[in-house]
Amino acid sequence: MTATTASPLSSRQTAGARANIPPRRMNFDFTGGVRFGYAGDAYMTTFWGAFSALFPKGESFFVESVRHYRNRITDPLLKAQISGFIGQEAMHSKEHVALNAWFQSYGYPMDKLDRDIGYLLGFLQKTMPHKRQLAVTVCLEHYTAIIAEYCLKADHMHRMTDPHLLQIWLWHALEENEHKTVAFDVYEQVGGGYALRTFTMMSTTATLALIFLWFHARLLAHDGRLFSLRKNWPGIKHFWGRGGMIPSIVPQLLDFFKPGFHPSQHDTEALLEEWREKLFGSQGILKEQWQKPGIVSKPMP
Ligand SMILES: [Fe+2]
Ligand SMILES: [Fe+2]
Repeated sequence: MTATTASPLSSRQTAGARANIPPRRMNFDFTGGVRFGYAGDAYMTTFWGAFSALFPKGESFFVESVRHYRNRITDPLLKAQISGFIGQEAMHSKEHVALNAWFQSYGYPMDKLDRDIGYLLGFLQKTMPHKRQLAVTVCLEHYTAIIAEYCLKADHMHRMTDPHLLQIWLWHALEENEHKTVAFDVYEQVGGGYALRTFTMMSTTATLALIFLWFHARLLAHDGRLFSLRKNWPGIKHFWGRGGMIPSIVPQLLDFFKPGFHPSQHDTEALLEEWREKLFGSQGILKEQWQKPGIVSKPMP
């Protein structure tokens, strides 16, 4: 995805900031990052590589599915939130293109993963009704919000991650929680209902799991680690085992199936305040880079 031009972003920045969803133009530099930047482990690092591979095309899909309904929204606050949402997701796509290029520099087939997710999402955009596309976005935004909340709270993960790689994930996690209600509210305002939302969550979960495992397998294959259960076991336990990230998010995932569910019921206001200050406050580690993209930010303390 190409970089967003300055003027549309600045109008989105203004509207998004009004709605407390400010798009922040970043310019991360991964050149100092170590190859196995997550715990020094190939399985764990490529887990995040597979995740990152989904974002450039995936977030463009989110944006288009919401943008389709923008003119039907009359509530000024929600309109401003949509502007913030679009601006933030556009910046996420751009920065994950850069992160994926960094993975590619080690020979990982990120371009092929990007091509393949592009085929799938392009097919869905051609064949799926717009309301259903928006429901898919609502479901995937629920995933990004609860994974992001987990990651912001997971100090042990921060300590295991190379600072050059950690920053993009913290920034992304913060903004996913800032805009987590937007697609959901648009869906409800245009008449999206419970049955479609929950049915779509089941089909989306199955599809996401298959694609993610397929992508991760292709990255592991590049390292010759695909069938090395012994070497991969610590990473498998870390993400999929008891107390790991995936089992830990299941209760919040299941909340989505409650009839009166709304993303704001997962209250992250205090968490967001804390991380806005840590990242963009007066001593924030990304403050300078945010104000002058291109400046390489200092590593995490
Ligand atoms: Fe995002
Ligand atoms: Fe998002």
